[in-house]
Parts: sequence; C-alpha cells; structure tokens
Amino acid sequence: MPIGVFDSGLGGLCALKELHRILPDADLVYFGDTGRTPYGTRSPETIMKYAAQDARFLLSRNVRAMLIACGTVSTVALNALKISLPVPVFGVVSAASREAAKATENGKIGVMGTGATISSGVFEHELKLINGSLEVTSVACPLLVPVVEYGFADDEIAYLSVKRYLQPVIDAGADTVILGCTHFPLLIKMLKKAAPHITFVDSGAAAAREIAAAFPDKNGSGAVHCCVSDTPSNFNKTARVFLGGELEIKAERVEIEKY
Ligand code: DGL
Repeated sequence: MPIGVFDSGLGGLCALKELHRILPDADLVYFGDTGRTPYGTRSPETIMKYAAQDARFLLSRNVRAMLIACGTVSTVALNALKISLPVPVFGVVSAASREAAKATENGKIGVMGTGATISSGVFEHELKLINGSLEVTSVACPLLVPVVEYGFADDEIAYLSVKRYLQPVIDAGADTVILGCTHFPLLIKMLKKAAPHITFVDSGAAAAREIAAAFPDKNGSGAVHCCVSDTPSNFNKTARVFLGGELEIKAERVEIEKY
C-alpha cells in the first residue's frame, strides 16, 4: 500500500523527492491541488474543507499513511485530520521545529510561511514547547507562493522578494530559519544568496524523514504516481525537474470537488 502525500500545489514535491530518496522502494501517491492553490490566503474553514477533500481522495487510493506536505494545512487542519482519518497523519510542524531547535547556535529562529500559517502561531508554539528560551521571529511571505507557482524561482523577482522578507529575521539576529511553507525550498538558491549565514530548514523534507522512519518499506515497487486538480502539463514539467530525470511523471487529473 502506498504512502500518500498532498499539498496545495507544487511545493510538496520537495517532500515527495526526499521521501522517494529515503524509501526508493516505497509506492507513493501525490496529490497537488493545482486548481485551487493557493491555500495560504484563505480562511481556516476553506482550508479545512479543501484539506478534508484532499485527504479523502488519497484514502480512495488506499494509502497506509499520509504526509501533509503543506505548511498551511499542517498549521490549520492537522489536528482535525488526525482525529477524523483512519490512517496515521504527519504534518510538517513538529519535525521542522525539532530540526531547527537542534540547528540553532544562538537560540534565535525565524519562521517564514503563508499568511494563514503565520497567523496560526503554531510554529512559534511548537518551538516554545521544545525550548521556552528560543526567540522566534515569524514572517508572513504571501508573494513567494505565486513567484514559485508561476515559475520565477530562479528570477531576480525571487531574489528581491526573499531579500525583503528575510530582513526582519536578519535584523532579529536569527541563525536558523524554518521554511514553514513547502513552496519555499524551491527558492533555496535565492534564500542562500540573500542570507548565506543562515541555516534553512526545509519543513517538508524534515517531515518526509519523520514519516519514512515511522513507515519504512522495502517491498513496494518504488512507483510514484502524481495527481493534480488542474491541467497536468506545467506540473509534469516541474515535477520531472524536481524528482530527477529518471522518473517519468505523467500526472492524472482528478475532480477533487467530488471527494
Ligand atoms: N503549500 C503551501 C504551504 O506550504 C503554500 C501554497 C499555498 O498557499 O497554498 O503553506
């Protein structure tokens, strides 16, 4: 039985890639809600509704565990999904917070996420639970998701945007930043250029390592099946680049509103 991974769009591919790297034999099913992205600008009620449909779709594909490779859903809907779903569910918050708390040398951590994620305060809460003396600076970065989704991750637009959003974190003296939105690791080149002294924690990859440790699999066929809610062509191109040339990605289009 496969492990299911979902995101509001492309960002969760970073987590999928890490999961496939660690468990090359595991069968994986990915759903990217490309037709309704972004989630991060929407109300908690809408995010919950979309997340429940995404999860029901993956359940229909018989997944044995689920990774929410989306910072917004992980911060807004994780507990509701954990209670209502019949399979184990993992989000990105706890794994990324643990990695950041371990990585920081000066106890100052930044969190970058969507508006919904930052307003939820969930990363800050988790970090304080791990270590009450951590200083956390959180920044909502709404421009970054469209920059990635529209293919500008390697463009000067991306550099100027990340530089601007990193400023409060740099001013606060953070040495570690959680990329609390799973789209942001696609901007890693620009993030490192803008702040070479900062350690960036990829929240989706951290969560992938967590679920891989809990559900190792050596008996699958290593199949990676991708599904999207909008036309697959752009997604196929990006997914192929992301997952490495050896995987042929042909995403299936799904009517997500039916779930
Ligand atoms: N994948 C979402 C997240 O990690 C970002 C994109 C969106 O706003 O839907 O928060």
